[in-house]
Amino acid sequence: MTTQAGPSAVVTTTADGRKTVRGPRGVPVLGNLPEFGKDPLAFFERLRERGDFVRWRFGRTPALFIAHPETIGELLTEVERTFDQPDLGIAFRTLLGNGVVVAKGPDWRRKRSLVQPSVRPRQVKSYAATMAECAVDLAERWADGQRVDIRREMAALTQLIAVRTIFGVDTAADAASIGRAMDVAQREIGAEFSGIGAILPDWVPTPGRARVRRATAVIDAEVSRVVARHRDGDGERPDLLSRLLAAQDETGAHLSDREIRDETVTLYIGGHETTSSTLVWAWYLLSRNPRVQEALGAELDRVLGDREPGFDDYARLTYTQAVVKETLRLYPTVWLITGLAKEGATLGGTPVPPGTRVWSSQWATHRDGRWYRDPLEFRPERWTGADDGEDGQAEEIPEYAWFPFGGGPRVCLGTRFAMVEAVLVLAVLARRYRLDVDSEEIRPVPSLTLQPDRDVLATVRAR
Ligand code: HEM
Repeated sequence: MTTQAGPSAVVTTTADGRKTVRGPRGVPVLGNLPEFGKDPLAFFERLRERGDFVRWRFGRTPALFIAHPETIGELLTEVERTFDQPDLGIAFRTLLGNGVVVAKGPDWRRKRSLVQPSVRPRQVKSYAATMAECAVDLAERWADGQRVDIRREMAALTQLIAVRTIFGVDTAADAASIGRAMDVAQREIGAEFSGIGAILPDWVPTPGRARVRRATAVIDAEVSRVVARHRDGDGERPDLLSRLLAAQDETGAHLSDREIRDETVTLYIGGHETTSSTLVWAWYLLSRNPRVQEALGAELDRVLGDREPGFDDYARLTYTQAVVKETLRLYPTVWLITGLAKEGATLGGTPVPPGTRVWSSQWATHRDGRWYRDPLEFRPERWTGADDGEDGQAEEIPEYAWFPFGGGPRVCLGTRFAMVEAVLVLAVLARRYRLDVDSEEIRPVPSLTLQPDRDVLATVRAR
C-alpha cells in the first residue's frame, strides 16, 4: 500500500488501485461504536460516501468497511478460507445450538451438506402448496374496508407456513405452542443483538439471556415431542423434518436427535422473521407506488386469472419476483455481513491484517447510485430488463451489488424457499386486495433484521 496524508483522512491505495481511507476519528476506547450504535444504517452510508475501503474502529477492534461489489464478492467467497465468520453471541448459541448457522469448519460443511437437500428447489416445490394454502386462508378472512396491522398479519402467516413446512404439524394448537416459544426466543435474541448484550462477555448473566434459556427449554420440549411423533409415524411426510430425519452423510450416519433439533430451530429462526419483514416492506412499498401496484395486478390477472397460484406459476410470475427482489434491494432484511480476517487474507490484492473485522452492508451497497439508476426509487422493472433509461439502455447491475442472501459457500440455504414463499403469498393476496398503508413514512430499525419502526396499519381494499 502507498500512503499520502490528507487534511482529514489518510488515503492509501490498494494493489488494484482503489483508495483506502480512514473513517471518522471516533473516541478513545470505544472508537466509532457510539456513532455506529446511534444509527448504523446512516453510519454505513456515511462510510460509503468516503470510499470503497474505509478503516474504522469497532471498540478496540480494527475494522474495515467495504462497499464495492467486487470486494464484497471476494469477502463472501473467501469465508471459511481466509475469513472466519465472527462468533455469534451467547443468546444465539443458546437457541441455535450448533446448527449450520453457528457451526464452522468441517462440522459446518457436514451439516450444510445434510441440510441442503431438504431445501433444494425440487423439495421447495412440495412446500409450495402449504405456502399458498396458508395465504388463501388469510385472504378469506380479510374483507374490503378491514383495518389490519400488516406486521402482525405477515408474522402470523409466515409463522404458520414455517411451522407447517418445517415441523409438519397440522393441528392449530401444536402450531401455536411452537410458534409462541419461538416468538419469545426471537424477541430476546433481537434485544441482545441490538442492545448492550452484543458487547457483554458471554459469562455475564443478564435477564434477557435468562429469558432466552427459558424459551429454549420450552422449544426443546416441543421439538422433541414432534420428533418422537415423526419417528413413531408411518411413512415419510412431506415436511423438512422428515427429510432431515432421512438424511445420511457419506458414512451412512444420520443426524442425532440433538442435531435435528438444532437444524430445525435454525431453519425456523433463519427463515421466519426475514421473510415476514420482507413481505411487510413489500406491502409498504406497493402502497406508496400505485404504478407498481397496477403492474403487479396486471401480471396476476394475466397469469392466474381467477385461480390460485401454485409452484409452477413461480417461474411465470416474473414481475412479482421482481417486486420481491426490488423490496430486498431497498429494505434488505439482513442488512450487514461481516468477516474476520485470518492469516493470508487479502482484498483487492492487498493484505488485510489478521484480526481485522471486515464489514459489508447490503443497505449501503444496494442504495449506491453507481450501481443503480435513481437508487432510492422502487422500480421492479430494473430486474425484468424492461427499464430502459433515457439512453435506451437497460441497467447493468454488477454481481454482488445485490446480495440480500449473502453469497459464496455460506449463501443462504433458504433463498429459493424464501423467494417462492414471498412470491406466492403476494400473488394470493395481491390478486384480490391492495393494502393502503396509513403512515407517510416508516423508518427501518436495524435489529436482527430490518424492522419497521412502528406498527404498519393499513386498510384492506378489494381490487
Ligand atoms: C427473505 C428472506 C431471507 C433472507 C433475506 C436471508 C438472508 C440470509 C443471509 C444474508 C445469509 C448469510 C449470512 C452470512 O453469510 O453471514 C443467510 C444464511 C442462512 N439462511 Fe437465510 N435468508 C432468508 C430466508 C431464509 C429461509 C426461509 C431459510 C430456511 C428455510 C433460511 C435459512 C438460512 C440458513 C440455514 C443459513 C445459514 C447458511 C450457512 O451458514 O451455511 N433463510 N440467510
